[in-house]
Amino acid sequence: MNSDSNRKDRLSRRDLLGAASLAGLGAAMLPVSTARAQAHQTYQVGKDPGKHEPIPDFKFDIEAQTGWVGEAGSAKEATVEEFPPSQNIAGVSMRLKPGGIRELHWHAIAAEWAFVISGRILTTVIAPNGEPATDIFDPGDIWYFPKGHGHALQNISNEEAHFVLGFDDGHFSEFGTFSITDWVGHTPPEVLTRNLGLSSATVATLPKKELYILPGRIPSTIPEPYLAGDLETSQNPHKFRLGKMRPIEFPGGWERIVTSKEFPINTTLTSVLQYLEPGALREMHWHPNADEWQYYISGRSRVTIFGAHGRSRTEEFGPGQIAFIQQGFGHLVEQVGPEPTKFFALFNSPVFEEISISKWLAGNPASLIADNFGLSYDEVRRLPKKTLGIIK
Ligand SMILES: [Fe+2]
Ligand SMILES: [Fe+2]
Repeated sequence: MNSDSNRKDRLSRRDLLGAASLAGLGAAMLPVSTARAQAHQTYQVGKDPGKHEPIPDFKFDIEAQTGWVGEAGSAKEATVEEFPPSQNIAGVSMRLKPGGIRELHWHAIAAEWAFVISGRILTTVIAPNGEPATDIFDPGDIWYFPKGHGHALQNISNEEAHFVLGFDDGHFSEFGTFSITDWVGHTPPEVLTRNLGLSSATVATLPKKELYILPGRIPSTIPEPYLAGDLETSQNPHKFRLGKMRPIEFPGGWERIVTSKEFPINTTLTSVLQYLEPGALREMHWHPNADEWQYYISGRSRVTIFGAHGRSRTEEFGPGQIAFIQQGFGHLVEQVGPEPTKFFALFNSPVFEEISISKWLAGNPASLIADNFGLSYDEVRRLPKKTLGIIK
């Protein structure tokens, strides 16, 4: 923490103490500004500690980007380059044509997560202990590949597959995606001949640069045997059927929450799938331990975030748009329009933590709340007594 922010911290504590002690004396007319002026005299050196940057734009229209487009699919990225506030979570909206392959690759600095929206994806992953895994993912399923584990994807359905990838580092793309054709294309041919056991003539036909997404054939047998035949396969599943798990029901909708407890290979993220009925309100809350990265699948919603120091910002979201809510910022989601809203949220912690305004108030004595808000006991008694979650 620098000395400026130290001063700001001391100032805000001093302000609060000043206001609290004056209120405690019942001297409502005494100028709180006197305490503030004193605090300024003591702590203001050069810069006004009351000034804060506005909350940065927390909305990104990932589907409106052009991204990478090829014969067998496309990819649109939201990394720190496109969406600077999201330092800890990046996303990619990927589409594969039937048979389309996202080639063998790994990510040096991030784990990969994905939510499948349409199509059927076959994945292969290799772990450092040599155990492979092959899985098939349908809409509503999520995957998690630990950082650095080699993997590949193929759309094995007859329709276009669409899935949204999430990475636990906003910089994953520019510093961390390693594709097999890029590597092979930049390795001396004599090394490839020795290492792969291929003739020089065959090595000369290998790709010279990264293919990224390429056309492929849907295998006639699924899954096919491994190249090495019988191998011990991974006992640590990369797949979780998020859309099929039992939801937490509320009057205005539901939530499905998957942490590392339910999905152990996923050691860095929490996934939440959320459904809001028309007119519903996801109540005021914050997450003490994680940033929240939302992708809207269907319907529309208004998100308001609160960033302290009198700062708040509201944006409206629809299908294909992303919201980023910084760790600890207060926020709420208001469903708007006739169609229910469905979105998923990714949190950069394997443990889910949330504090809602209703839970917080319910855990305080009535007299404290009455004084804090200047309410009568009758009014305080009307406040919620438990978490409301999604209000109808
Ligand atoms: Fe990947
Ligand atoms: Fe939230």
